Amino acid sequence: MLKPAKPVRAFFGNALHAPVRGQVEALQQSLIVVGEDGRITAVHSHGSGEARRQADQFAARGELVTLDPSQLLLPGFVDLHIHAPQWPQLGSALDLPLEQWLQAHTFPLEARYADAEFAAGVYESLVDGLLANGTTTALYFATIHLPATQLLADICLRRGQRALIGRVAMDEPTQCPENYRDESADSAERDTRAFIAYVRSMPGNAAGLVRPVITPRFIPSCSDELLRRLGALAAETGCHVQTHCSESDWQHGYVLKRCGVSDTAALEGYGLLSRHTILAHGNFIGAEDAERIVQAGAGIAHCPLSNVYFSDAVFPVRRMLERGMHVGLGTDIAGGASPSILENARQAVIASRMLEAGVDPGLERDERRLPASRIDAPTAFWLATAGGGIALDLPVGLFREGYQFDALVLDADRPDSNWRPAAGDAPDALLQKIIYGAGRTNIREVWVAGRRALAPESARASK
Ligand code: GUN
Ligand code: FE
Repeated sequence: MLKPAKPVRAFFGNALHAPVRGQVEALQQSLIVVGEDGRITAVHSHGSGEARRQADQFAARGELVTLDPSQLLLPGFVDLHIHAPQWPQLGSALDLPLEQWLQAHTFPLEARYADAEFAAGVYESLVDGLLANGTTTALYFATIHLPATQLLADICLRRGQRALIGRVAMDEPTQCPENYRDESADSAERDTRAFIAYVRSMPGNAAGLVRPVITPRFIPSCSDELLRRLGALAAETGCHVQTHCSESDWQHGYVLKRCGVSDTAALEGYGLLSRHTILAHGNFIGAEDAERIVQAGAGIAHCPLSNVYFSDAVFPVRRMLERGMHVGLGTDIAGGASPSILENARQAVIASRMLEAGVDPGLERDERRLPASRIDAPTAFWLATAGGGIALDLPVGLFREGYQFDALVLDADRPDSNWRPAAGDAPDALLQKIIYGAGRTNIREVWVAGRRALAPESARASK
């Protein structure tokens, strides 16, 4: 067994996490000890004598972070699907169907990242914005441009955000504009390899805070040759893979027509479906596809805000979870108009309630509803934290020995807080209030791998 790292810091206060889907666990007056490698070495809970004794020792060495009574420690949020270059487009251009939106708005914007200076400005602002919203792990799509994508990796490492980043591969001339596509399958593979090598040798990245991801945009944007090559590259390198899968009627239909099989089956055929694959959306996967995904151990990035605009359907998240599928949440910026995973957790609950109730009042109750579809707030919180960690196969999202200390400090003592916890709130009630009421204003500090990634405002102001 790995020798535990030397403890370097400890956190004392109230914490909340979800080790089991659908259940929250309160760790009251607990001490969480963190090693120099950023992993949790011990959790002493419920004001135990050991928690207090060790807290005193850490305090004496100036290594104790003590939370105020108005504060609560939560695992950091995991965003399983986000397009970094689409940050300038947040909240705009949401009125076209996916295939038109890509051509009219998104590809022209992404083409601008040939300009590394433009990329640097956007990416710095994005990573800061995500950290301020409590996202400690992000699985990013970048663009086809190697230098700009390397910059994103540099920025995440420097800011201390855990990041999995893909240089986007897209070479299919009938679907990608001339000024924004890979020249050939060969050049796309070469640039993907170059990005993997770059990230794996970044100084200061030995622990793998930033990781490269093989990223065919989606089947419509890629030639068969490129998809085959990227599947082989995934097997060769062991990298994570991300792509879009059966997002909308159009995408699902396009792949059926071109490949003769579903998106999921085609991806599997290319060698792109594995334990380290994250499929964005998956709204139109059928029972056989679901089984393939479960068998492969792949995960779904459920993007409930984006799905409102581009998906043509509600992802049946509960049914997929009950099949044993790995699922977490994604913002899908800028298909989704919010950088907040908390807001997406809220929307995941709301969308599931609408799926269960049905939306067409012209139909009889039993015709319009899809029973047993609702998820509750604890399940949405689990999706935002532990569920995302499981989908990525990374030890994040829980306060447990051996897990990375990725956390945020939520504070109710804010003049503009909509989160109104009360003394005596049971953990479930407290969590429900967080999902419905907490927001960016309440996120005071963010820690990734035991290091501060976002300081309290006072410290930020004096920096
Ligand atoms: N499918 C292919 N590219 C994209 C994208 O940028 N956003 C979304 N939502 N779907 C896609
Ligand atoms: Fe997307």
